[in-house]
Formats: sequence, C-alpha cells, structure tokens
Amino acid sequence: MAEPGFEKVAETGDLSPGQMKPVTLGDEELLLANVDGNYCAIGNSCTHSGGTLSDGDLDGEEVECPLHGATFNVVTGEVVGPPAQEGVQAYEVRISGNDVMVAPAKG
Ligand code: FES
Repeated sequence: MAEPGFEKVAETGDLSPGQMKPVTLGDEELLLANVDGNYCAIGNSCTHSGGTLSDGDLDGEEVECPLHGATFNVVTGEVVGPPAQEGVQAYEVRISGNDVMVAPAKG
C-alpha cells in the first residue's frame, strides 16, 4: 500500500542506473533519476535561467544543466557548481511494487 500523499510518476523498469527523465507531479515537472538503483527526484527547472535539467547530463549524483553548465545534486537538490546560486526542490521518493511514487513538495 502506498503512503498517503505519494503519487505514481513512473515504473521501476523505466530507468536503468545512470538514467534520468522528466516526469510530472500535479502541475510540477520533476527530474526523476536512477542513481545506482536508488530513485531520486528534484525540480527539473534550473534556478539560473530555467534550463531543463533532464536534457543535461547525469554523472553519478550530479546533473549538469544543458544551458550554462550549472550542476546540482539529484539526491539533495543542492547546487554543486555555478552559475546557479540556489538549489532546486528535492522530493521524497518511495518504491511500491513496480511503481515509483513521489510526494509533493512541502511548503
Ligand atoms: S539555465 Fe542552467 S546554468 Fe543557466
């Protein structure tokens, strides 16, 4: 049984380790990534100038924005490298059977 508040955004077979893709949760677009078998989700819009992070490159836990090369940690949402100054929202992810479930951001 899924926990309250979590919504299905993908299936576990959708992404192999090292892959990522955009998913939608309500009105928000998220980046869902598989890092060594662990799924994580962050906001998909770069805080620098709105680049679509899922169009960039994923290297371990770091995603590089395709526009100007800012890097973010896909587990924590923290900004790792400039020119972005602020991190993006990180979301809680749960696996329920074959479903990848994500909780809406709080606050
Ligand atoms: S929009 Fe992402 S680094 Fe500029």
